[in-house]
Amino acid sequence: MFSKKSLRKQAEMQTRRLRVTSLLSFSVLLVWNAQSEEVCAQDQGSSWRIILTSEKEPGEPMVVTGTVYAADGKTPMPSVEVYVYHTDAEGYYRKGSNSSSNPRLKGTMITNAEGKYEYHTIKPAPYPGGGNPAHVHYVITAKGHEKQLTELQFEGDRWLPNHGKLSEEQRKDTFAAVRPFVKDEKGVWQVRKDLRMK
Ligand SMILES: [Fe+2]
Repeated sequence: MFSKKSLRKQAEMQTRRLRVTSLLSFSVLLVWNAQSEEVCAQDQGSSWRIILTSEKEPGEPMVVTGTVYAADGKTPMPSVEVYVYHTDAEGYYRKGSNSSSNPRLKGTMITNAEGKYEYHTIKPAPYPGGGNPAHVHYVITAKGHEKQLTELQFEGDRWLPNHGKLSEEQRKDTFAAVRPFVKDEKGVWQVRKDLRMK
């Protein structure tokens, strides 16, 4: 049998436990809400914005943004899967076995209602030994369309014909494979690369 005193004590303890639990839940909710505003690596495969690299990844930070359009080049396409992968700052897909079938830096996005995608990564380097320009591989999958493969390359790359020099007109073509890149005030390379479904 419990005495009145011990019952009261139990009730007080339970109330205290509830308060602590509520406080903890609230804190977790706050953290979750704060994180959901950020670009989370864990979002890969379900978000239109992802991070491919950890903060410790060597290399120059780069953000690539773009929109996937229908064949007309004007109608944005939501719910398109955009898988990207590339080499690291030394030109390796994966050190030890530098095969593009097993890349380390990779990620999948799903375009949002405006057809947009965005990934945060580092600027890739050409393969070790050179010969090929630095590039990002794209695999684009959309319902009712054949899988599309394309690449992003960078203006000024020494392994591109004419060092990838672009005219003003070419710079404006956001669908082109070779794209210009500019450093923002935070020292991050910004690249725009739109995609057109066939
Ligand atoms: Fe490659």
